[in-house]
Amino acid sequence: MGQFQWQTKRIQPGQGGSAANGGVGNAAGSSFTRPGQMSQNVVALNELKFTLHQRLIEELDPNKLEGLGKDKAREAVEQAARTLIAQEMPGIVGTTRDELVSAVADEVLGLGPLEPLLRDDGISEVMVNAPDTIFYEKEGRLYLSSVRFRDDQHIMRIIERIVAPLGRRVDESSPMVDARLMDGSRVNVIIPPVAPKSPTVTIRKFRKDKMTINDLVATGALTNELAEFFRACVQGKLNILISGGTGSGKTTMLNALSSFIPDTERIVTIEDPTELQLQQGHVVTLEARPPSLEGRGEVTQRDLVRNSLRMRPDRIIVGEVRGAEAFDMLQAMNTGHEGSLGTVHANTPRDALARIENMVMMAGFELPVKAIREQMSSAIHVVIQIARFPDGTRKVTTVSEISGMEGQVVTMQDLFRFEQVGVDTDGRIMGELRTTGIRPRFAEKFEVSGIHLPPDLFAVAGF
Ligand SMILES: Nc1ncnc2c1ncn2[C@@H]1O[C@H](COP(=O)(O)OP(=O)(O)OP(=O)(O)O)[C@@H](O)[C@H]1O
Ligand SMILES: [Mg+2]
Repeated sequence: MGQFQWQTKRIQPGQGGSAANGGVGNAAGSSFTRPGQMSQNVVALNELKFTLHQRLIEELDPNKLEGLGKDKAREAVEQAARTLIAQEMPGIVGTTRDELVSAVADEVLGLGPLEPLLRDDGISEVMVNAPDTIFYEKEGRLYLSSVRFRDDQHIMRIIERIVAPLGRRVDESSPMVDARLMDGSRVNVIIPPVAPKSPTVTIRKFRKDKMTINDLVATGALTNELAEFFRACVQGKLNILISGGTGSGKTTMLNALSSFIPDTERIVTIEDPTELQLQQGHVVTLEARPPSLEGRGEVTQRDLVRNSLRMRPDRIIVGEVRGAEAFDMLQAMNTGHEGSLGTVHANTPRDALARIENMVMMAGFELPVKAIREQMSSAIHVVIQIARFPDGTRKVTTVSEISGMEGQVVTMQDLFRFEQVGVDTDGRIMGELRTTGIRPRFAEKFEVSGIHLPPDLFAVAGF
């Protein structure tokens, strides 16, 4: 204990602010506090955390901690930290001490500085760009957090903690990893040399209460009428592609739409990694797998789509179509597995088709472009385009029907479109999701199968 140095002068009780506790930052857009501007208190508190952590590592027996279970282990670490502080840093008391104790416990048992951000249910995404640059997303907006890592090694230690239990490795020779936290959150890690400035971590937090279609209507992502239309499309077994940019709400929309699938049907979901939470009783979840450290055992989404065809599925759901599985998915949709759903990363419905076409071509099938387009035009019925707007909201921007082929070109027509009319004083997007007045060709198919849409659904106001 003798060599332990506590820098009394650098931090006094009550000065720590909420730095140890994750505190909020400032909204993106207007003015971020630059990382270089972090207060001396934050630096001092970080140093204290580090020193305490080092001391606790020396004193605590990890084997004993492991046997204790989560809550008991935390209690033990907090107790040890309190004792250490009382002995060696008697000047630290009150909330500063409590925050320090909690931060050190996060360091010893959890993901260190990220823990407060992960615990906050309002935060949907956490992004570590550098030790002193950590952003998070709350209600669709980006904020710079006041939490800090000590240095690159500190980030690397936390990365190790994320990937090691999964039997994965991150180092110079494999500098990128996708992983999942215990709670289901999705993590991407990329480190130097391919991210030369700093180890970089992106966490999409797992949302326990997935948004339902009613929640989406309540946030203004779509209207009640459109929700009814989507219900008809899913129950009428149309093949639907949800298209959108990154973080635009594709998976959330897919999850919400899947609730319209009748409970009597057998659903096979294919994801990489799994995110969907279907409510039905008859669901088989399949998850792709990267190769092992020795480069063996890879199972691709394509392998899973092909396997799923032998599993008597009524519906196949591909979380995100991003590679060669596009081909098998089109085949499946064309051969009796109607009512399949998937998402694709694209900015317009037409772009979504171009992406699928590209995926099929890249997969090395020597098919003429026209043949691929014919496959697409008969397989996919509807493309739902969603987008994330600058105010943080997500909205359905277009719903397009694929109507056929004209020469070499797949023909599409928009059924619904979001029309922005302006921005209010708080920066919120104002606009309306309207029907274009075009009745889809499959409306008749609905009638025949006993699915009735409101007769004026496609009527344009004023006509
Ligand atoms: N209508 C909405 N209103 C508010 N938040 C939403 C809405 N839709 C989705 N979100 C939130 O946005 C985040 C991103 O959603 P989601 O994972 O569905 O996007 P994605 O398009 O699938 O992203 P990725 O491209 O990374 O797969 C999540 O935190 C989700 O809860
Ligand atoms: Mg997604």
